[in-house]
Amino acid sequence: MKSVFVTGTDTDVGKTCVAAGLAVTLRKSGVDVGVMKPFAAGSAQSQTGFQSKDVEILRRASQITDPESLINPQFFPVPSSPYTAWKNLKTKPKVNPVLSAFEELSKLHSMLLVEGIGGIMTPILRNYFVTDLIREMKIPAVIVTRTRIGTVNHTVMTVQMCKKYKIPLRGIIINDIDSHGYTVKELSRDLKNLTGVPVLGSIPFLRDMGDSTLYGIFKKNINMKQILR
Ligand SMILES: Nc1ncnc2c1ncn2[C@@H]1O[C@H](COP(=O)(O)OP(=O)(O)O)[C@@H](O)[C@H]1O
Ligand SMILES: [Mg+2]
Repeated sequence: MKSVFVTGTDTDVGKTCVAAGLAVTLRKSGVDVGVMKPFAAGSAQSQTGFQSKDVEILRRASQITDPESLINPQFFPVPSSPYTAWKNLKTKPKVNPVLSAFEELSKLHSMLLVEGIGGIMTPILRNYFVTDLIREMKIPAVIVTRTRIGTVNHTVMTVQMCKKYKIPLRGIIINDIDSHGYTVKELSRDLKNLTGVPVLGSIPFLRDMGDSTLYGIFKKNINMKQILR
């Protein structure tokens, strides 16, 4: 069993929802699954003990008790790429502590779900992108995409970059939340033909992020065998 990096065609595409759904489904299937969000950015939360809202969602879904310093080694309190946060806040992103936390969490769990930040070419340093991070972690990726028109372009570009960086792809998950866009049927057909990457399924609009909603949908809609391969 290998850990999986959850990336996407853009920010706000549904990476956290998908990572949470996968975490709940794997946990309920008996897998000791850990979670990680190496770099997070946005408004800091004060209520939950985790600065990043994504991290709080992932923690709840996986029910893990690992410390924030391991799950989310770097948090930038501005909504931007780590590179832009560095330029604005003068806090340089540090890759080595992130890779050390990844190694440590990998020893604590049989599998890790790692959520990226933004899209595949989100910059962390001047010459270091999310693609470089995935390559250093040596894990396969899943691409979350949506149905809005324009998604074919974004998905093909994301797959091309993964190929360029030699990142193995487990598949594509379609977040079916755009009412005016492609149907899942036509998008699955075309993405498969255009990229050669399997489409693992789609998720509809989720009315909540509770265990039973996520488990019900992911178990039924997503090819979990391909995730666990
Ligand atoms: N399938 C879905 N059902 C309901 N809300 C969704 C769904 N996918 C995304 N959202 C909402 O859209 C926003 C962005 O999703 P999120 O998973 O945080 O994206 P990302 O992690 O890629 O930035 C969040 O408010 C999230 O709750
Ligand atoms: Mg997210």
